Amino acid sequence: AENMLWGGRFTEGIDPLMMQYNMSLPFDRVMWKQDIAGSIAFARANMNNGILTAHEFSEIERGFAAIAQEWSTNTFEAKENDEDIHTANERRLSEIIGKEIGGKLHTGRSRNEQVATDMRLWLRDELRILDSHLCDLIKVSVARAEKEIEIIMPGYTHLQKAQPVRWSHWMLSHATAFASELQRLREVIARVNRSPLGCGALAGNPFQIDRHAMAKELGFDDLLYNSMNTVGDRDFAMETMQWGSSFMLKISRWAEDLIIYSSLEFGFVRLSDAYSTGSSLMPQKKNADSLELLRGKSGRAFGQMAGLMCTIKGLPTTYNKDLQESIEPLLDHIKTVSDSIQIATGVLSTLTTIPEKMSAALAPEMLATEIADYLVRQGVPFREGHHISGRVVALAENTGIPMDKLSMEQLKAVDARFGDDVQTCLDYERAVELKDAVGGTSKRAVLEQTAVLKKLL
Ligand code: ARG
Repeated sequence: AENMLWGGRFTEGIDPLMMQYNMSLPFDRVMWKQDIAGSIAFARANMNNGILTAHEFSEIERGFAAIAQEWSTNTFEAKENDEDIHTANERRLSEIIGKEIGGKLHTGRSRNEQVATDMRLWLRDELRILDSHLCDLIKVSVARAEKEIEIIMPGYTHLQKAQPVRWSHWMLSHATAFASELQRLREVIARVNRSPLGCGALAGNPFQIDRHAMAKELGFDDLLYNSMNTVGDRDFAMETMQWGSSFMLKISRWAEDLIIYSSLEFGFVRLSDAYSTGSSLMPQKKNADSLELLRGKSGRAFGQMAGLMCTIKGLPTTYNKDLQESIEPLLDHIKTVSDSIQIATGVLSTLTTIPEKMSAALAPEMLATEIADYLVRQGVPFREGHHISGRVVALAENTGIPMDKLSMEQLKAVDARFGDDVQTCLDYERAVELKDAVGGTSKRAVLEQTAVLKKLL
């Protein structure tokens, strides 16, 4: 252990398994670029303090340019003692520019602030990419909603046929949920993008380092204002996973609808081959694996969130090594959510709708509310209208005659207030168009929704 970066007080070697157990370089290496950017900003600020000379700073910059070159060409050689990305980069710096200057880089600095800085920078960039993926998903939903506005399908409650709606209205019901997630994501990004640099190990920086200047250089929106909190805080990772879990929950419900709609029994939509798989045994099968994985991976995302919360909940204030356990789940979480959004966008943009199947699934009983509403327009109290309409439904059931095929005589026998114009109520398109209040399923109300969503994009 005396060979480790922190080995001054150590006399005995570290256990080999402990060495591996402790090591984060295999996964935190993805943050090499952020680690270098943070080091350069830190060195520049220490030059402006007088800790480093201009020459020393430019040597450090030169060294890091070479190291960046190595990482980006996959030629960085990790050494046995490289514990994490911070120690690896610093070790290499001293090799390139010499220990005399390289040894000054870490003045007043701790890996505790470094790791928080690297993670926040990395995460901020990833979340911005997720923002644009999510916009794409909403865009595809909106574009399809506009194009396929004429298609009418059964709307369900309790998975029972309820009232007719536009297919576009169904798509936008999910796009609206995705839009809430987009707004949440933007709020999360604002809190992620704040700078820990200059907080030290826990107590702050003793050399009057200009934290604002470092934050500005790194593109942070603001600072973090309590050094003890900053080094022990993984809210940015937790909140990201809470957001990701919430998003995955939404995409999982969307996927569940489409799994049902793409079954042979419903047949409302057909998944493109690009997002389906076959069966190794049953030649006829085309399975909606993309959708099932969207549903399945949501469980994994929730687990990562809950796992990190359990890791953190009992920690004493400030940094504890347990916090290193926040990195791997976060990396996987981001990849899972990112892939999921893109898969969903692919599924939706290549899906075929089968409008005949949707209209064939419409059933006259779904217009029972229209009959009650008709009676309301004749001055009948709704409760009574509801009851009368229920008797019409029962009559249709008992006689085996579909509700829209009952004769005028039969209807009038149920209630004398039925006029000949009641037949006009028994029309799906009309039913859909009548829901014209904001948020409803009329063409106007649906297009209004697309306009609202487009403002977010
Ligand atoms: N690799 C560590 C992590 O990911 C960096 C911080 C180490 N700090 C320390 N005091 N041991 O958390």
